[in-house]
Amino acid sequence: MKTDYNSIIEKVLIDEESLKKRIKQLAAKINEHYENEDSILLVGILRGSIFFLTELAKQLKIDCKIDFMDVSSYGDETYSSGNVRILKDLDTDVSGVDVLIVEDIIDTGNTLEYLAETLKHRGARTIKIVTLLDKPERREKVIKADWYGFKIPDEYVIGFGMDYQQLYRNLPYIAVLKREVYSNE
Ligand code: PRP
Repeated sequence: MKTDYNSIIEKVLIDEESLKKRIKQLAAKINEHYENEDSILLVGILRGSIFFLTELAKQLKIDCKIDFMDVSSYGDETYSSGNVRILKDLDTDVSGVDVLIVEDIIDTGNTLEYLAETLKHRGARTIKIVTLLDKPERREKVIKADWYGFKIPDEYVIGFGMDYQQLYRNLPYIAVLKREVYSNE
């Protein structure tokens, strides 16, 4: 099947060029921050962060390892349940490691609060957070990214890693999903 994007997209929120430009800027700040460290571990949170992580990692000049975790507080629901579960854990021991958590979006903050606590418990030397998008209006937890790409309003966004019912992650831009698409859930 081939979805007619005009029928589901309200508007393009962040186009490809703007994403590219902003990710370059974020990488420059991260390179500067870690310039004196031996190496860092990028922890990508599946699945939404993979597009952002690969673009960001290509711009990093510091040595970095990459690992992934899959956690879920949403399932296929639109709203966070607040109960975060690990679906896939890291293969890397983070004790003594400088960890950079890479997220696509911070919404309620439930996921990141849980992750940061978990990695701290495991003895990570430092934990920093970079997120492509930040939706501050929906925050339930006191969580702040060390670096963020764009602050966005409380809209349902898809593309560049973000899905609606597991679809549309592969759109090369970030778009607002029409309300009528998800309002009957
Ligand atoms: C999304 C996103 C974050 C989390 C943010 O993941 O990638 O991990 O929600 O929401 P929060 O701040 O309210 O916790 P999701 O569970 O939808 O999984 P996905 O990345 O596989 O789409």
